[in-house]
Amino acid sequence: MSSEQLVWLITGTSSGIGRHLTLAALQRGDKVIATGRSRSFAKLADLQAQGADVLELDVTAPLESLQEVAKKAVQIHGRIDVLVNNAGSYSSFIYDTSYSSSTNVFGPLNVNRAFLPYMRERHSGTVVWIGSLSGWRSAPTMGLYSATKHAIRALSQTLHTEISPLGLRSICIEPGAFKTDLLTSDNRASHGVRIGDYKLLTEAVEAHLVGLNHNQAGDTNKGVEIIIDVVKGEGCAAGKPFPLILPLGSDVHGVIKEQATFAREVHYPYLTMSSQQLVWLITGTSSGLGRCLTLAALKRGDKVIATGRSQSFSKLEDLKAQGADILELDVTSPPETINEVAKKAIHIYGRIDVLVNNAGYGEIGPLEEKTSKEAYDQFNTHIFGPLNINQAFLPHMRERRTGTIVWVGSICGWICVPTIAMYCATKHATRALSQALHAEISPFGLRSTCIEAGFFQSNIFGAAHHVTSESRIDDYKELVATTDAQWEAMNNNLPGDPVKCAEIIVDVVKGEGTALGKQFPLVLPLGSDAHGGIKEVCEKTIGQLGEWEDVICSTDFPRVA
Ligand SMILES: NC(=O)c1ccc[n+]([C@@H]2O[C@H](COP(=O)([O-])OP(=O)(O)OC[C@H]3O[C@@H](n4cnc5c(N)ncnc54)[C@H](OP(=O)(O)O)[C@@H]3O)[C@@H](O)[C@H]2O)c1
Repeated sequence: MSSEQLVWLITGTSSGIGRHLTLAALQRGDKVIATGRSRSFAKLADLQAQGADVLELDVTAPLESLQEVAKKAVQIHGRIDVLVNNAGSYSSFIYDTSYSSSTNVFGPLNVNRAFLPYMRERHSGTVVWIGSLSGWRSAPTMGLYSATKHAIRALSQTLHTEISPLGLRSICIEPGAFKTDLLTSDNRASHGVRIGDYKLLTEAVEAHLVGLNHNQAGDTNKGVEIIIDVVKGEGCAAGKPFPLILPLGSDVHGVIKEQATFAREVHYPYLTMSSQQLVWLITGTSSGLGRCLTLAALKRGDKVIATGRSQSFSKLEDLKAQGADILELDVTSPPETINEVAKKAIHIYGRIDVLVNNAGYGEIGPLEEKTSKEAYDQFNTHIFGPLNINQAFLPHMRERRTGTIVWVGSICGWICVPTIAMYCATKHATRALSQALHAEISPFGLRSTCIEAGFFQSNIFGAAHHVTSESRIDDYKELVATTDAQWEAMNNNLPGDPVKCAEIIVDVVKGEGTALGKQFPLVLPLGSDAHGGIKEVCEKTIGQLGEWEDVICSTDFPRVA
């Protein structure tokens, strides 16, 4: 993209990284359209005084109003070269589904939809997403924030695969703890202590965040210079290939290296669930893995409450004939309905020992073509629905001081495949939620694990189970045609055997068979493709960390001895 004068549009420039990036880009001689929402728009006045153009833009606004802003923005200098999805909120507490997901995920998706047509028209442009260290490590009470940042990395990488043939690029910058206003109480959607069991944890995390606020190790001024270098291919980035992700800060360098080498510590004091008869509740059992898991658990002598939504409920009859209890449950139902189903389910055997968040489908189509509703639907089935279901069952499990939550993640929690951006984003987010949840509930004797299966035989890519997108934008026609044919061909020709996968999940939960004597895994890939795919991503990531180490670690403030 070289040292020509660029036109940047940056969201969330009232403070922090957005503000520093605006000033640094101006100083390099670039043009910047600094944007902010109405409540903090006055804070952009000094950016304007220093040469920025300013526009009001709330990333959570409806698409139509973002498209209006995009039109105005493009008129200012005739183009936008760099779009920076920077606005973000920090939402602590795992069950607050609305706040940071709309600001951190659905908002930027709409902003991209508004600006990408102008970039495609010119066959040139860079999209920058500001991710986070939390896109790799999911700490207790930060599950949802981490989930959004995991999702962003997936969205950026998938977007890159879709737009790079058109001359565009996408990068996810993943800063560690930088000195900004992100952790001030205004930007933190904290709801205080709602459940007594979490009181100690909540207070400890609050104290930690208050202590960390404005004491972060990362120097924002240094960080933004690197972002500009990378976008312009100058300075520290000169001669290096454009990276698709770029961590910033020695803290994030360490965390990613640890995650990518699989050197995860397992803090798990309550290992045993043993071979007692367990009661399972599994979502999405009309076909595929859910069905196999139901049969595998029944075969081991366990009880299973198999659930399915109304349109496929009749398919559960033969599970019933084989000993399962069946209940109607659409995971996207309102919380009140889910709570009613939970009550009924617990009543059957007086308890639920294992909850499996399995229901899922694949939302297919290029990121830019996906409507807000389609993006939301995918998150609703894979993330928000399971969160509501967890909330319905966790009080019961906490009361009994025992219980296991199994999340069916995917190889797509690591790899990013064109035309399934939303699927990949939700599966990245699933791992984050499971890990944060485990850290939060393990003190009560509960556990959570994320099974990251490779591609296995099921209906997931069958016509009834994925939402095919007929190409809506000419630029993506070829991509859609190719990938749709690939999905169809893959269906019924997938390498993994769901029966074997189900047997191992039962082993892991019961600590039997293949899992005997092993520590309960917080993440478990299954399938040779998952093993190979995840390993490749980890090795590439570690390679890139090495190649950029001096740059990544150069943004810290000097250490005070
Ligand atoms: N197959 C793979 O290669 C693969 C790889 C990694 C991970 N996974 C994951 O494995 C899980 C199971 O998928 P599968 O491969 O077994 O595919 P599948 O055969 O298509 O099964 C998906 C199940 O989810 C149900 N479902 C979808 N939306 C639902 C909703 N709103 N409420 C309740 N149930 C709903 C479906 O029910 P209906 O019949 O009503 O649609 C079906 O029972 C998913 O989370 C998927 O992402 C699959």
